Amino acid sequence: MVSRVIPVDPFDLVIFGGTGDLAQRKILPALFRRFCAGQWPQQVQIIGAARAGLDRQGFLGMVTELLRTYAENQCRDASALSAFLQRVDYVALDGLSDEGWDQLAGKLTADRVRAFYFSVGPSLFGPLAERIKSHDLATQETRIVVEKPFGHDLDSARALNATLAVHFSESQIYRIDHYLGKETVQNLMAVRFGNMLFEPLWNSQYVDHIQITVAESVGIDGREEYYERAGAMRDMMQNHLMQLLCLIAMEPPAKFDPDAVRDEKLKVIRALDPVKPHHIVRGQFEGGAGNPGYRDVVGNRRSTTESYVALRAHVSNWRWAGTPFYLRTGKRLVARSSVINVMFKDAPHSIFGADAGRHANALSIRLQPNEGITLKVTIKEPGQGGMRLVDVPLDMSFAEALGPESQDPPDAYERLVMDVIRGNQTLFMRGDEVEAAWAWTDPIIAGWHARGDVPKPYDIGSTGPGDAELLMKRDGRRWQGINP
Ligand code: BG6
Repeated sequence: MVSRVIPVDPFDLVIFGGTGDLAQRKILPALFRRFCAGQWPQQVQIIGAARAGLDRQGFLGMVTELLRTYAENQCRDASALSAFLQRVDYVALDGLSDEGWDQLAGKLTADRVRAFYFSVGPSLFGPLAERIKSHDLATQETRIVVEKPFGHDLDSARALNATLAVHFSESQIYRIDHYLGKETVQNLMAVRFGNMLFEPLWNSQYVDHIQITVAESVGIDGREEYYERAGAMRDMMQNHLMQLLCLIAMEPPAKFDPDAVRDEKLKVIRALDPVKPHHIVRGQFEGGAGNPGYRDVVGNRRSTTESYVALRAHVSNWRWAGTPFYLRTGKRLVARSSVINVMFKDAPHSIFGADAGRHANALSIRLQPNEGITLKVTIKEPGQGGMRLVDVPLDMSFAEALGPESQDPPDAYERLVMDVIRGNQTLFMRGDEVEAAWAWTDPIIAGWHARGDVPKPYDIGSTGPGDAELLMKRDGRRWQGINP
């Protein structure tokens, strides 16, 4: 595979929350990788901004340390680190006062793309946006990047959108859902709209149902407070799984252009039916074998926050009427595995008789790990003994097909941050999309509260609560395995 690196324009990137967890684990390592890949022009400046009373030297020490931890082996050229650090600066600044803003203004360069990354809690979005404006730091080429969670419900998301809209136009706001930056998630669009093969079959006439699984083996350590308020529904379903559903279900956009793509995704979200209470299962992992359960981890013996959720969704439009979408996600499951399975219907008539069994095609798109696509087809079992049918996979592992470079695809943040600089919003959520997603999610959560719903326990290392199996079984279907 030939890697194509298209250099971006000169830019200044200010990271508010520059000493925080996300900046350390994701944003700064991603920037370093892109720097090493040669995507930066000479004129680039990364400015960490935080309340921490560091000076530039202290910040560079922190960056050096974190790159050793999170970007080891990613840049073999020893001089790269010092060349990268030359472009890094720091300003101690308070988002809630005017302290530090003049220094920041003094560091920015005119005539460059200017990006402000809000790697901070949503309560600071408004004050930061306001100060960028009042200190006259916003130019024509200014973009702001905001992280999830974008609100806690529809009202708070609306309020955030309204606050940002006072100071910036929608074309300047980049709302991150890092799943959209994943290489294979973008591949969903390539598979669907770059091939003639699938699209004619991509509808309820041929597709029996679709399964979307985002399973994690990790728990919530270190994020207990946030997670206890969010749960799997707000943390994963409302955004990451919703986005995957949109990419699978949307109509082909006229072009691969930000608003064309986002218009189609929005139509999918708006076509989602409300979820019936018996079509949703919540779970919470239980302790065992020396591992603490969810309630111990968050220190709340009575917590009713779900660490797992599975549901059956319906997209009510001509293409999908009658084809259910089963979605599930959870923590501390048997493996880390994100897969979309498109399960086709049985052939309408079997010429091979009842003994040949029922066989149906299935397309699996593996998002992580072992990115690739498998198409299950039915063939004759080789050998004597009559016409016996067997299912075999037509397997395309990207690593095998595209070479070693594809084994180490860029982290989602690498693509997303560079897209901000390029001014390409295709892989970012528009305000109306986020609001529509909350409008679908809110009644589900309100229903749990109203009914006093308690999540079903499940074992650490399992595939989730038994009721999630029943959700499928009742419909005469079953989940595909969760395999590493
Ligand atoms: C985040 C969630 O958005 O995505 C986390 O807040 C989750 O709870 C993470 O673990 C999963 O991302 P990835 O890229 O590891 O699949």
